[in-house]
Amino acid sequence: MYIIKQKPLTMSDEQWKANITRSDRRQYLNTDYANWSMDVKSNAICKLKITYDEDLWKELYEIAQSLRYENFHKILNLAIWPECDATKRLQDILSVFENDIDKYLFFMSPPMTMDDMIYPHRDPTRGTSIYLPIGPYGIDYAPLEMYYDHDEYGLPENNSPTVWAWNTQCTHAVFNLYQPRYNIQLGMNLPYQQVFEKYNDLFDI
Ligand SMILES: [Fe+2]
Repeated sequence: MYIIKQKPLTMSDEQWKANITRSDRRQYLNTDYANWSMDVKSNAICKLKITYDEDLWKELYEIAQSLRYENFHKILNLAIWPECDATKRLQDILSVFENDIDKYLFFMSPPMTMDDMIYPHRDPTRGTSIYLPIGPYGIDYAPLEMYYDHDEYGLPENNSPTVWAWNTQCTHAVFNLYQPRYNIQLGMNLPYQQVFEKYNDLFDI
């Protein structure tokens, strides 16, 4: 039998506030893209100077929700690139990369539980991914999280069509809790730094 004496836990208001669980992962992450350093953009993740119109973005969300996904394991569901007008238009917009693209894929993540999160990892294959968040919109799109040089970065809210490039060999994670989450990824076997140099004028630095 142990005799344990415990003193009350005292915390300032500030400490209490800082320790309350934050419901949105972005509150733990650096999503302030305008202030990301050149080091992050040239080694981990960067927005591309490529835009596409909102109608196409919305159409791609509808298409993404109607596809049949191959379930590799609970959290990795992939759909092979469907041939239609919308995907053709998108391919044209991203055609600058076509010689280096290994795979064009739609990704779907179902809402996850604690047992099957996309915990921090580096990909076993792929070097670079061209990444388009599709849906859900706004705060509901669980951010891709990137851990780089002692900071935690996350994609900003999904409020408009954006295109990113990111280094799949940099530790990353996704904690998607509430609804199916869709994105498009164009996988490249080239290392990120090489893509950054080769397509430098397209990187929003
Ligand atoms: Fe991954």
